[in-house]
Amino acid sequence: MDLNLPVAHEAAIGLTEPSVSKAFVKITGGKPLHGTVTPDGAKNSALIQLAAMPLVEDTWVKIDNLPGITDVDVSIEMLRECGLTCKREKNAVTVIGNAKKYAFSEENGSRIRSSIAFLGSVLSRFGRVRLPLPGGDAIGDRPIDIHLDVLRAFQIDARVENGCVVAEARKFPLEGAEIFLRYPSVLATVNAILLAVKATGKTVIVNAAKEPEIIDLASLLSKMGAHVIGAGTERIIVRGVERLNGAEYQVMPDRLETGALLMAIVMSGGSGKITGTIPEHVLPLVHTLRDCGVDIQIDDATIEIKSVQLNKGFQISTAPYPGFATDLQPIITPLALVAPGESAITDTVFPERFGHVSELRKFGADIKRNGNTIWVHGLEPLSGCEVAGGDIRSVVCLINTALSVGTETKVFGVEHLLRGHARFVDKLKSLEAQIDYSSAL
Ligand code: EPU
Repeated sequence: MDLNLPVAHEAAIGLTEPSVSKAFVKITGGKPLHGTVTPDGAKNSALIQLAAMPLVEDTWVKIDNLPGITDVDVSIEMLRECGLTCKREKNAVTVIGNAKKYAFSEENGSRIRSSIAFLGSVLSRFGRVRLPLPGGDAIGDRPIDIHLDVLRAFQIDARVENGCVVAEARKFPLEGAEIFLRYPSVLATVNAILLAVKATGKTVIVNAAKEPEIIDLASLLSKMGAHVIGAGTERIIVRGVERLNGAEYQVMPDRLETGALLMAIVMSGGSGKITGTIPEHVLPLVHTLRDCGVDIQIDDATIEIKSVQLNKGFQISTAPYPGFATDLQPIITPLALVAPGESAITDTVFPERFGHVSELRKFGADIKRNGNTIWVHGLEPLSGCEVAGGDIRSVVCLINTALSVGTETKVFGVEHLLRGHARFVDKLKSLEAQIDYSSAL
């Protein structure tokens, strides 16, 4: 696997780059987890904030609370590729100077999904861009038609050529535009905002994504002097400014890691606290857990699981925020294996996001699938096995399932886990899980 592992990860898992694809997580579950744990900074917020950095001109921006994950490393490499100086220190990066290049190599650009958000910042800076089509998780078809429509609304000619998006503005500096997103795509909303912040006049974005990551981006841009109103609602208004200034910013806590840690405790039948989080960002998960018999309490920044006494299955259907997050769909699925009765899970956002299902069957799970819905019959006996996750959330799903099983499980797909979670195995160890990295080498 072509993985550019940062030194921190090599040290954390005791493996070097060529051996990471042979690595697995070894878990013996069946023992309740206990303790307190804190999620890292939000991956998807960090990635779009880094993608905004080509907007920096003759100043510096410091972004703190970045998670130590490979997708962040790739994003920083892309910033260096476009000529910006990036100084890293612990969980922070300071981005200094001026972007000089508008074309990106395939090596970095095609490895992550959020690279598509470099369209907005680089076009805003140069009026042109050449960017490899994005990569990222294998969770079904991920077209970019809405992104290209956003570009066209700003009078930017855009086409796909040799696997790259090639785009050039007909008028530069850009002029504000009226944007209607036919679906509230998160990264297309990001691109619309990034194109608008320095465009002349007013931009109105209708049917915008309302995800917390959009609010976090708008807060960073506002600190940099941008005028963004309405982030977190379906109508965002941006008034362009000539220049942006320097700023320091802390990425918000990761709501998806919060969900992953909550589910780890629940699957083990344990108790514990997630601190330093924003409970409001995971309310659909909290309410589903409560309905199924988890005694769970929330206050401003803490979620506490007091006890787990599952008494029924559940039905969920994913939707854009504030609905049930698609990223938490593979993460809540293991609950259906250990809750009595039938559960039904539908993914309307990514209808093909069911790569974890065939792996769950190896544990003994009884799951039927029809299109974008699965039906799970709970309380089938589960046993440890060898499984592989093909994307970040699937790996978490499999690890958390293993925490409910008294015999040993090996979960492959470590390279995906490292893309999205910093020290996830250490976090579970701190909750007393019997878990470690190992290698098939
Ligand atoms: N879509 C289109 N055309 C487009 C763009 C999107 O049809 O041009 C469709 C997608 O195929 C999908 C739906 O719109 O069916 C929603 O996709 P969206 O564009 O909102 O997803 P994204 O912005 O590419 C981000 C996150 C994903 C998360 C989704 C939905 C990042 C880097 N990625 O992707 O995160 O699942 O929003 O919330 O922010 C993850 O973290 O594991 C992950 C996949």
